[in-house]
Amino acid sequence: MGKYPQMLASVSLNLKNFMVVAIDLSENGFTGSIPENFGSLQGLIYLNFHGNRLGNGDLGDLSFLSSLANCSNLNKILLLGNRFGGQLPNSIGNLSTQLKSLSLSFNLIHGNIPVEIGNLVNLKLLEFAENYLSGFVPDVIGRLNNLEALFMSANNFSGSISLSLGNLTKLFALNMGKNNFQGSIPPSLGNCQKLQILDLSSNRLSGFIPEQVISLSSLSIYFRMSDNFLTGSLPLQVSNLKNLAELDISNNRLSGEIPTSLDSCTSLVVLYLANNMFEGAIPRSFKSLRGLEKLDLSSNNLSGQIPEFFSQLSSLKYLNLSYNKLEGEVPKKGIFANASVNISVIGNGKLCGGVPKLLLPSCSTKVSRRHINKKVVISTTIGVTGAILLLISFVTYYKMKSSQPTSTTSSIDSQLRLSYFDILRSTDNFSNENLLGVGSFGSVYKGTLSGDGKIVAIKVLKLEHQRALKSFIDECNALKTIRHRNILKIITVCSSVDHEGNDFKCFIFEFMPNGSLDKWLHSVPNEQLGRIKKLSFMRRLNVAIDVASAFDYLHNHCEIPIVHCDLKPSNVLLDEDMTAHVGDFGLSKFLFESSNNVLTSASLRGSFGYIPPEYVDGHVSRLGDIYSYGILLLEMFTGKRPTDELFKDDLNIHKFVSMAFPNHVMDIVDPSLLFEEENEDDRMEEAIVRNFESQRNNKKKMEEFLLPVLRIGLTCAATSPGERMKMNDVVNNLKTIRDSFLKSKDRNRGRR
Ligand SMILES: *[C@@H]1O[C@H](CO)[C@@H](O)[C@H](O)[C@H]1NC(C)=O
Ligand SMILES: *[C@@H]1O[C@H](CO)[C@@H](O)[C@H](O)[C@H]1NC(C)=O
Ligand SMILES: *[C@@H]1O[C@H](CO)[C@@H](O)[C@H](O)[C@H]1NC(C)=O
Ligand SMILES: *[C@@H]1O[C@H](CO)[C@@H](O)[C@H](O)[C@H]1NC(C)=O
Ligand SMILES: *[C@@H]1O[C@H](CO)[C@@H](O)[C@H](O)[C@H]1NC(C)=O
Ligand SMILES: *[C@@H]1O[C@H](CO)[C@@H](O)[C@H](O)[C@H]1NC(C)=O
Repeated sequence: MGKYPQMLASVSLNLKNFMVVAIDLSENGFTGSIPENFGSLQGLIYLNFHGNRLGNGDLGDLSFLSSLANCSNLNKILLLGNRFGGQLPNSIGNLSTQLKSLSLSFNLIHGNIPVEIGNLVNLKLLEFAENYLSGFVPDVIGRLNNLEALFMSANNFSGSISLSLGNLTKLFALNMGKNNFQGSIPPSLGNCQKLQILDLSSNRLSGFIPEQVISLSSLSIYFRMSDNFLTGSLPLQVSNLKNLAELDISNNRLSGEIPTSLDSCTSLVVLYLANNMFEGAIPRSFKSLRGLEKLDLSSNNLSGQIPEFFSQLSSLKYLNLSYNKLEGEVPKKGIFANASVNISVIGNGKLCGGVPKLLLPSCSTKVSRRHINKKVVISTTIGVTGAILLLISFVTYYKMKSSQPTSTTSSIDSQLRLSYFDILRSTDNFSNENLLGVGSFGSVYKGTLSGDGKIVAIKVLKLEHQRALKSFIDECNALKTIRHRNILKIITVCSSVDHEGNDFKCFIFEFMPNGSLDKWLHSVPNEQLGRIKKLSFMRRLNVAIDVASAFDYLHNHCEIPIVHCDLKPSNVLLDEDMTAHVGDFGLSKFLFESSNNVLTSASLRGSFGYIPPEYVDGHVSRLGDIYSYGILLLEMFTGKRPTDELFKDDLNIHKFVSMAFPNHVMDIVDPSLLFEEENEDDRMEEAIVRNFESQRNNKKKMEEFLLPVLRIGLTCAATSPGERMKMNDVVNNLKTIRDSFLKSKDRNRGRR
C-alpha cells in the first residue's frame, strides 16, 4: 500500500457513473492529494479517509471540500489522521446541513476556523484537535446546538473561551486543552448539563473556577484544568462530582483549604491538586475515597500529620506528598510499606519514622502512640479468636438445642457479642440504601459496626422460610472448618430475637467493596465512551484461578471434603484488590466417607443453569461443583449467562461454545474483552486513532490465550461426569496460561 498516488483519482473516475453512497478507505497507506472534482458523486452519504497519508501539507489540500457542496445527503466526513495542510476553506459552510460528523484531527491544517462553520447546525461531532489552527474560535460555534463532542485541543487558538459554548446543552465531551486561551472560564459552561468530559488544561486561563461548572454532576470521566493561572479556592460544590473518575487542577494558583466536601466524590480514581497554594491539614474526608489510585498533593502548603488512613486505602498506587509542611510520623503500612517510585514525602521538614528506605530520622517521642496501636491489635485478635470460639460453641449449642426442642434462646444472646439492636443500628434500620442483595434464604445488608466503624456484610436469614434454619446450620458447620484466602471470611454469627420476640439469625462477613462477579459481568455500562468498567482478560483469568483455588481447597484439602453445590457468579465476591472470594455456603454438604450423600430434595441442589445433569439422580459429588465451575468459566469469557434467552430448545452455553471452537471463538468472546484497558489513560482523541490498530493486535493475542481457557471450561462442563477435569489440574493449567500471557505482554512492552 501507499504505492498508488493515482488510485483515488481512478476510484472517483470509475465510480462516476454509479450511485456511490459510501467511500471508506480508512486505515490504509494511501498517499497523494484528492482530486478537486471529487464531489461529483452526488449521492454520497459517508466519506472516510481516516488513517492514511493523504494530502501534501499544502495550501490546496482541502479544496476538494468545495466540490462536496452538491452532496446534499452527506452525513459524515472523516479525514482525521492524514497530512492535509492549508486552511479550512470557507466553503465548508456550503456542505450539507445534514452533516453530523466532521472530523479533521491529527492533520497539518493552519489558519482560522471560518465563521461559515455556523451553518452546519446538525453537527454532533466536530473535531480538529492536533493541528496548527489559530485565532479566535468564532462565537457562531454556539449555533451548533446539536453538538455532542467538540475536540479542539493542541492547536494555537487564542482569545477567550466563547460564552456561546453555554448554548451547547447536548455536549458530552469538550476538549480545548493545550492552546493559548486566556481570560476566565465562562460560568455559562454550567448550562452544558450533559458534560462528562471537560478539558481546559494547559492554557493561560485565570480567575476562579466557576461554581456553576464544578457543580456539573454529569461530569464522570475527567475534569482537567491543570496548567493554567486559576486563583481562589476549590469551590465547596466540588461535592457534586459524585461520578467523576479524574479531577486534575494541578499547576495553578489555587489557595485556601482543601474542602472536606470532597468526601462525596467517591468515584474518584485520580486526584491531582499538586503545585498550588493549598494550606491547612489533609482533610479526613479523603478517607471516603476508597477507589482512589493516584493522589498528588505535592508542592502545596499543607501542614499537620500524614493521616494513618492512607495506609488503609488499598487501591492507592501513587501518593505524592512532597514539598509541603507536613510533620510527625510517616505510617509504615499499606502504600507506605514499599517506599518505591510510587510514593514521595521529600521536602517536608519535620517528618520522621516510616520504613528505613525513606531515610527519615526516627521518631523518638512517639512511643506512646505506638503503644496504643499495639493494644488495639491485641484486642482485635482476641475479638476475632473469640468470635470463632463463639461460633463453634454456638454450633455445638445449636445441635444440642435441636435435640431438646423447647429450650430457650436467651442464653445465646448473652454469649454473642452483637444483638439484634446492634445489627439494626449498623444497617440503619435495614435501610434500602444498605441492601446489597436478596437471595432465596434472606437478604444481605451492608453494615457499619458501632465499635470500630468496620464495614461488614450482614446476611440476615429469612426464618419464615422453613429451610432457612437448616441452611443456617449447614452454613455454620461448613464455615467453622474452612479458612482460605479465596473463601469469604466470616467475622461472627448473631442469634437473637427481634423486637417482636421472633428468632433472628444472621452471619457477619467481611465486606467485599467490589461486589459480585455477576455485577461485573452483566451490568449495563452507563457511559457511552471512555471509562466503561469492565473486567480485562487478565482480571478474568485471575478470578478464574481464585475460584478454582477455593474449590481445590474445599474438595481436596479440607479435613472433611465439602461440596459447595451453588457456584454461580453472584456467589463470587470481589474485594478491594479484585481478589475473588467464594461465598454462600447455605447449600453446602460435607462428603462423609460413610454416608452416600443422597439428596433429600432435588429442588435444593443449586441454581438453574449451573446444576449438573446428573443431579437428577440425587447424588452430590465434587464433580457436580466442577460442572458448575465449567459453566462459570464459559460465562466469564463469553459474557453470556447459561440462562440467556439465546439458549433454548437444545442449544445451551456448552454447545454454543463447542460449535465455535476452535476456529470461531473470537466471534463468541465477550465483546468488552476486545477493548483492553491499555488505552485507559490515553486521551480520547488518541484512543480514537489508535483503537483500530490495538484492536487488531489484541484480538490476535487474546485468541491465543482464550482457546486453552475455553477448552478447560468445555471439559469441566462435560455432560458425562467422568470426562471432567480435577480442580487441582484446573488451577495448574490456568496458572500456566496466565504465566505465558504475562510473558507475551512483557514482550510487547519491550518492543514499543
Ligand atoms: C452542483 O450542481 C450544479 C447544478 O446541478 C452544477 O452547476 C455545479 O457545477 C455543481 N457543483 C459542483 C461543485 O459539482
Ligand atoms: C457557497 O454557495 C453559494 C451559493 O451557492 C455561493 O455563492 C458561494 O460562492 C459558495 N461559497 C463558497 C466558498 O464556495
Ligand atoms: C443559542 O441557540 C439559539 C437557539 O438555537 C440561537 O438562536 C442563538 O443564536 C444561540 N446563541 C449563540 C450565542 O450562538
Ligand atoms: C512528587 O512531586 C514532586 C513535586 O511536584 C516531583 O518533583 C516528584 O517527581 C514527584 N515524585 C514522584 C515519585 O512522582
Ligand atoms: C503557608 O502557610 C503558612 C501558615 O501555615 C503561612 O504563614 C504562609 O504564608 C503560607 N505560605 C504560602 C506561600 O501561602
Ligand atoms: C515493592 O515493589 C516492588 C516493585 O514494585 C515489588 O517487586 C516488591 O514485591 C514490593 N515489595 C513489597 C513488600 O510490597
